[in-house]
Amino acid sequence: MCGIIGFAGKTEAVPILLDGLERLEYRGYDSAGVATISADGRLQVKKSKGRLSVLRELLDSQNPLSGNIGIGHTRWATHGEPNDTNAHPHVGQERKIAVVHNGIIENYLEIKNSLIRKGVVFSSDTDTEVIVQLLEYYYRKKSDLMDAVYAVLNRIKGAYAMGILCSDFPGQMVAAKKDAPLLIGYGKNKNYIASDVTALLAQTKTVSYMEDGETAVITADGVQIFDRDRFLLEKEKHLIEWDVSAAEKGGYAHFMLKEIMEQPEAVRKTISPRLADGEIVMEELNNASELMKNISRIYIVACGSAYHVGMTGKYALERLLHIPVEACLASEFRYSEPLLGESALVIVISQSGETLDSMAALREAKRKGSKVLSIVNVMGSSIAREADYVLYTWAGPEIAVATTKAYTTQMTLLLMLGVYLAKQLNGIEQEEYAVIIRELQDLPEKISVVMNDPDRYQKAASRYFNHNSVFYIGRNLDYALGLEGSLKLKEISYIHSESYAAGELKHGTISLIEPGTLVVALATYEPLVEKSLSNIVEVKSRGAEVIAMTTERIVSLIESQASEVFVIPKVHSLLQPVLGVIPLQLFAYYVALNRGCDIDKPRNLAKSVTVE
Ligand code: G6P
Repeated sequence: MCGIIGFAGKTEAVPILLDGLERLEYRGYDSAGVATISADGRLQVKKSKGRLSVLRELLDSQNPLSGNIGIGHTRWATHGEPNDTNAHPHVGQERKIAVVHNGIIENYLEIKNSLIRKGVVFSSDTDTEVIVQLLEYYYRKKSDLMDAVYAVLNRIKGAYAMGILCSDFPGQMVAAKKDAPLLIGYGKNKNYIASDVTALLAQTKTVSYMEDGETAVITADGVQIFDRDRFLLEKEKHLIEWDVSAAEKGGYAHFMLKEIMEQPEAVRKTISPRLADGEIVMEELNNASELMKNISRIYIVACGSAYHVGMTGKYALERLLHIPVEACLASEFRYSEPLLGESALVIVISQSGETLDSMAALREAKRKGSKVLSIVNVMGSSIAREADYVLYTWAGPEIAVATTKAYTTQMTLLLMLGVYLAKQLNGIEQEEYAVIIRELQDLPEKISVVMNDPDRYQKAASRYFNHNSVFYIGRNLDYALGLEGSLKLKEISYIHSESYAAGELKHGTISLIEPGTLVVALATYEPLVEKSLSNIVEVKSRGAEVIAMTTERIVSLIESQASEVFVIPKVHSLLQPVLGVIPLQLFAYYVALNRGCDIDKPRNLAKSVTVE
């Protein structure tokens, strides 16, 4: 959730830390801070509640921190309200050691109480402070920093990625990782740590991913990485393919709008390497019949929008593969008793590849003997590394908290996977297969067509942005689509919104429909369009205002019932939601714009959720 950056080099650290924090701010944005060690060996810290801009002003208005080594942090509060004191870095009472930390220390209260009994005075409400106070305590006793680090790691329970500075070692930074992402970046006479690859894109593209239990000592001249037994490791280095400009706004008002507009290209990049000679190819899966051997059910497990992709996948994969498919929220899945084992395939979907609940579900599935296939956007992320098979969505870096291009690429890839497996297992007619392949090729172009008329969505948004409550209704794939449309609206515009299976509405929710209530009725799934039409008429006759979305082929059936109509091109029904989500994203975006919301960084949210 929070972001970490660390730098050890021969030039000033603060500008690099601030640049990295700016690129990380989407991970958490309620407070930020930096610490450096100056040339004369002083540990210095500046931190403040609020956005990074507040920290920048603080650094500009007071003496800027000097030093060629430093750590920085942007916080999404878990323990302790967002304020200056609870912001990271945290410093021990002797002001020798500073720590930035992502994750949660579960036994922090027990450690805190025992340190208080020993006379340690705490200044914050955070779990992180126990790390640094305990470090100073052990360092005093052991007088070796790494001995103290290992003693702390043995004592704490929970998840952590951390960066540590100690004024007795002015040229080095220490890092440790368990259950929260951390990577090392390599440069010439400079090296880095970061919780997220986007923080490093402007500095270096050569990285190593730290594994659980590893620690690292980073100086300007080199990096040493150790395993949990303190043996020195030879770590593989990876080259990041993302370009720094992909993580910049490039003239758009918001990252979200930029990312919406990037969807034709992101979908094209995801599809085209997997189409050859009229066939879907998935080399990553080696042998599909081997993968599906003895599989009698599929669980698709994810969080947030990725779960909504899973809902679409449930309808599509069941139809294509003729076996039960369940879409599960990762946070529920891990604590329920799913029927795992060799006969279950678990598909984990995640943009970041770091979502803690999804990661835990993956581990649980593997532990119980199921094969895990992941659909992930961030290369080398934890979920990608730990799954048996990984399919990457080539969406590029996604910065806006509300996902758009990651969602469409995940959905496209999941549908391709379903069609590919159906073909390998002889479950799809050649004629239908050929239609899907042809339409996959045309999909990026059709997304552009849907996007190229922003006036329609702007007009609807300026008409309805003052509504307090919105219902999304649809059936089958349109129901799954409505879940995402509703989430997009509520997360960035703060309008209360719910999504209902249209047929379920009259079992309770219809009592909330009154004159003027806005209903977004999705009627793109043609096999059920008549039934959807009946549901539209039902809400209309109770006074609802209806925005309908439908395909060009059946618009004449629907338009007389709606105040606004979003029309999208007709494609094969399984691909229809990829086009259908675009108007919903743009409608949500323009509503939020009209309401003056902070679109890229909605309140209380974070892009990557690495705590439970
Ligand atoms: C957060 C993001 C969502 C995302 C969800 C799952 O809530 O704001 O946009 O869908 O996490 O994230 P993941 O990285 O696993 O796809």
